[in-house]
Amino acid sequence: MQTLTLAQRVVKKDDYVPCAEAFVDTRLPNRDGKLNYCIIGPGVAENSKQHINIVEPHGFNVGGVSLPTGKYNSLHAHETAEVFLICRGDWRFFWGHDGSDGEVVLSPGDVITVPVGCFRAFESVGSDDNFMISFLGEDDSGNVIWENAVIEGAAEFRFYLTKDSKLIDTNAGQELPPKDELMQTLSEDQLLQFHRVSPLEMAARVYNVSKMTGHNNVFGDESIDGGEKTFHAIIGENFTDTKQVKSHVLNPHSFALGAIVAPPNNGFNAHQVDAVQVYVVESGNWLITLEHNDDRLVRELGPEDTVSIPANAIRQIKNTGDSDGILHIVTAGNTAAQLTWI
Ligand SMILES: [Fe+2]
Repeated sequence: MQTLTLAQRVVKKDDYVPCAEAFVDTRLPNRDGKLNYCIIGPGVAENSKQHINIVEPHGFNVGGVSLPTGKYNSLHAHETAEVFLICRGDWRFFWGHDGSDGEVVLSPGDVITVPVGCFRAFESVGSDDNFMISFLGEDDSGNVIWENAVIEGAAEFRFYLTKDSKLIDTNAGQELPPKDELMQTLSEDQLLQFHRVSPLEMAARVYNVSKMTGHNNVFGDESIDGGEKTFHAIIGENFTDTKQVKSHVLNPHSFALGAIVAPPNNGFNAHQVDAVQVYVVESGNWLITLEHNDDRLVRELGPEDTVSIPANAIRQIKNTGDSDGILHIVTAGNTAAQLTWI
């Protein structure tokens, strides 16, 4: 696989490329208008036309979604972790075999991690100006498992799904494979294998950095100029420096998620991490400096921009705005990444 330059690892919000028919449910009534983005990795997109900004495997996938208010994303389950970071708009998540086990309305800054094997759906309940970033576990996040109504209903609109989750559009002249090569609906017994999740259990899997206190004096650079920050341990094992802080959600996802809140001119001083990381800006403007092998990059980042950072690259990032900024950090793996200050 071609090695990416550091410049190619920065994906600005304006570089995200939407796909309006990424999934088999997009032609069903009230499901149209959904736009899906694959920022890092293919995720679980079913349409071969979906653009992927960064193809290189990271150990997890990063995507995005927006949805007109009043439309919804159908009930489905995943074989790996699925985490959403609400960037814009208000979103109602609901779950269970028929979507009636519980619901929660989330707002910008909220993060939710939906358990593997639980049927979930969501809709926009606020402004049409909405967007969520999504993280899926593992390099291969498997297939989407749709509720039976999607598989049955999509055929009416000449959309079909093969057993390996490839979208077939007979309207566009694609040939319909034999029935035994198509995705089958789930039996009652299979449906019983899926998790039921109580509203209390799901509520414990929601975190909002701007509403929580966070931790100070966690990182080794906090007493040094430019290193002031508050750390939020959201999912899994983040850094060796943060081992004393217990994350909000502990079950393995194949990645960890943390966040920092930094005042102007502060953030991370120069350091290395021995795992691949992705930064996602939630708020504020930041200046990142990266050095890796003979490559060097200095780049401004704004809300919803992402950057992929190779393992062991030297990185520094500072809030260049005039108020606090929030930066989310995704780290590959289920064990704490070794952090080395330069
Ligand atoms: Fe999903």
